[in-house]
Amino acid sequence: MAVLLGPKALLQAVAYAWGRDRLTPRGPLSPWQGVGPPVGLEPVPGGVRVRFPEAALEAVFLGEDLLRLAWSPGEEVPPYPLAEAPTPWEPQRLEGGRLLRTPRMALWVGEEGLELRDPQGEVLRREAYPERAGPAWRHRVALRPGERVLGLGERASPLDRRGGVYRLWNRDPGGSYGPGEDPLYLSVPLWLSLLPGGGGYLAFYENPAEGWVDLQGEEGVVAFLGGPFRYYLLPGPLEAALARYLRLTGLPPLPPRWALGFHYARWGLPTRKAVEEAVAGFLGRGLPLRAVHLDIDHMRGYRVFTVDEGRFPDLPGMVGGFRKEGVRTVVILDPGVKAERGFPLYEEGLREGVFCRLPSGAVFRGPVWPGPAAFPDFTDPGVRAWWGGKLAAFLGMGVSGFWLDMNEPALFAAWGEPTFPPSVRHRLEGQGGDHRLAHNLYGLLMARAAWEGFRRHAPGVRPFLLTRAGFAGVQRYAWAWTGDVESTWEGLRTTLRALLGLSLSGVPFVGSDIGGFSGNPPPELYLRWFQLAALTPFFRLHSARWTRPREPWRFGEEVLLGVRWAMALREALLPYLYTLAWRAAREGRLLLRPLFLAGGPYGEEAFFLGEALLVAPVLEAGARAKEVPLPPGGWYPWGEDGLLEGPAWVRLPAPLDRIPLLVRSGSLLPLLEGAGLALHLYPGPEGAEGEVYWDEGEGEGPHRRDRFRLLPVPGGYRLLWEGEGAYPWPWEGVGLRLFGKRLLGAWVEGKAYPADAGGVRLPPFREAFLEVKGP
Ligand code: GLC
Repeated sequence: MAVLLGPKALLQAVAYAWGRDRLTPRGPLSPWQGVGPPVGLEPVPGGVRVRFPEAALEAVFLGEDLLRLAWSPGEEVPPYPLAEAPTPWEPQRLEGGRLLRTPRMALWVGEEGLELRDPQGEVLRREAYPERAGPAWRHRVALRPGERVLGLGERASPLDRRGGVYRLWNRDPGGSYGPGEDPLYLSVPLWLSLLPGGGGYLAFYENPAEGWVDLQGEEGVVAFLGGPFRYYLLPGPLEAALARYLRLTGLPPLPPRWALGFHYARWGLPTRKAVEEAVAGFLGRGLPLRAVHLDIDHMRGYRVFTVDEGRFPDLPGMVGGFRKEGVRTVVILDPGVKAERGFPLYEEGLREGVFCRLPSGAVFRGPVWPGPAAFPDFTDPGVRAWWGGKLAAFLGMGVSGFWLDMNEPALFAAWGEPTFPPSVRHRLEGQGGDHRLAHNLYGLLMARAAWEGFRRHAPGVRPFLLTRAGFAGVQRYAWAWTGDVESTWEGLRTTLRALLGLSLSGVPFVGSDIGGFSGNPPPELYLRWFQLAALTPFFRLHSARWTRPREPWRFGEEVLLGVRWAMALREALLPYLYTLAWRAAREGRLLLRPLFLAGGPYGEEAFFLGEALLVAPVLEAGARAKEVPLPPGGWYPWGEDGLLEGPAWVRLPAPLDRIPLLVRSGSLLPLLEGAGLALHLYPGPEGAEGEVYWDEGEGEGPHRRDRFRLLPVPGGYRLLWEGEGAYPWPWEGVGLRLFGKRLLGAWVEGKAYPADAGGVRLPPFREAFLEVKGP
């Protein structure tokens, strides 16, 4: 903390912590009490209402694969996480109404608890009836030997959460974190159970109040200190359950295509000149830079929405200049507004009553970068509109995206909770409530405010938002990065866990600060981090003000060469990644997929990027090979002809300049090669298939979708091409490269196209014949 803050801010942090403690009520929770046995059961549309001496449960199916369980009494909170209001779905009612069944799942209402079963009657989950303590709720969920529990949002812990206790409370760990830190910035009360046979289920608790999940013992305990005790159960397979969850809480929008390129950020670039030099450093070396981020340095005394004209003269000129070179600008926004008389934004905020208040009615203030600050209450639609309106000026300057930081919300506190006291009031769409209920929603609703403002003030432009904090549903508005991780090998492993945990919690577009945020990575770690990041959805270099410069050319030729490989790979993969982004937006498919989601063993050593690529990052110093678990099927090492057969563990070379990357046999990968599109064909016994989604890369205009199928025939393959959509095919024909067999040439409409070592380039076709010479 002391490194982060100067002496003045440290004093403020001490004063704040002292004041906050005085405002924080203490005292034990009242004792837990069971709700008792069920005393009555009556049908309601889609399900049942079960009465207990002290409570009631409404269990309602919202589809054949979605069950909502809502307990009362409970503190209500507006349904911010939800994107749809699903309607009841009629189940089959059996055994006197105690067994409710759909083709995908069943609910059994027992004497002591509930059972979720699969259609064959196998129990997926057994939970005891809950207990209450004042506004708090908790229940116990049975765990089986070998059952794994995944999800719970961003965590610095192994993906299988069993054995630990996890707090559901968004928290800034304060400038640096390492393995085991809990909680982190973005929690999601989403629990995925992976059963030994590969099946499982998803449970989503639609409760933003502080809670915890205790998985130390034979059973799990899920507790919330308040809020509604309402949750959803979805049967496996887990990937289908996650896709359904994403429809419930909102599919991520299709990002602008540039956002999938490489981003550069750095805290501590004090002037326009310093930013321009960095950008020129990339472009001059032919390193493909697609976006540059401005951290808090551009502000006047860290006053949000201001620009220091002395140090950053003519910001629109700079932004416009970058844009001509193909580099977009993203600007950081912190929620705290400097509480200073005479600062127009603060004065306006006071006049319009946008800030959070204490129960006394006084505006709440807490210290952050600009010193004491006031905080907009994003739980009020008027405040969201007010804040969103402030984006207009930056959008008018040509800024393409916003980076939403410190929105846990984070404060500088010398000890204790680095956030608002629990008594701070929030409007919660008019119903009113306190920070206990609104805390975990703050990041989500700041992102919503920015999203709505962006849409309003730049209609037709696809918003790009990056957020640090969030909650279930945040994927509708923003991408997330894993914050201030330490620059160590352990930090790299922790980052991979945080990324996969986020993905498994329904936040598909995620990334990390390459090299770690808070320290100076040794060159090898830096390079390994770059290689991993190139194969995660969000690809950005960033670090703290006090770290040494870390542009790719600062570490010597060998590292620069390795970075070039990673960046070139990323650029080549753009059509593949964009197609994945589109599938995420359309169907809720994840981009980062742990191997066990699709037939592979449990583990954190490797993951799928989409369906075709298996990435095995190097997470250890000095490693020049890596043991990789291959799921069933055939696997081609990237760019090679030899096929490996899974399931197996294989040891693959991992020289410094690359990490093991494998392509699933049967895949057809669309890649950029030079200015053209090339299909890399990695056939399996049945050939291969793949698709490309493409459009302008921005806006809401026409798109196209091209599906390719490669079918084995005597002497070679037939390749079928089916295109749809109004956007014209933007490349000259298509290149083909075949792996595993030698491509001699191709025939289109009776015309021959001989192949060379680089493959063959063909004019557009509906059907081509590929002549191969093969083993
Ligand atoms: C927080 C962010 C970090 C940023 C810094 C200064 O620590 O996590 O990314 O650089 O604040 O704005």
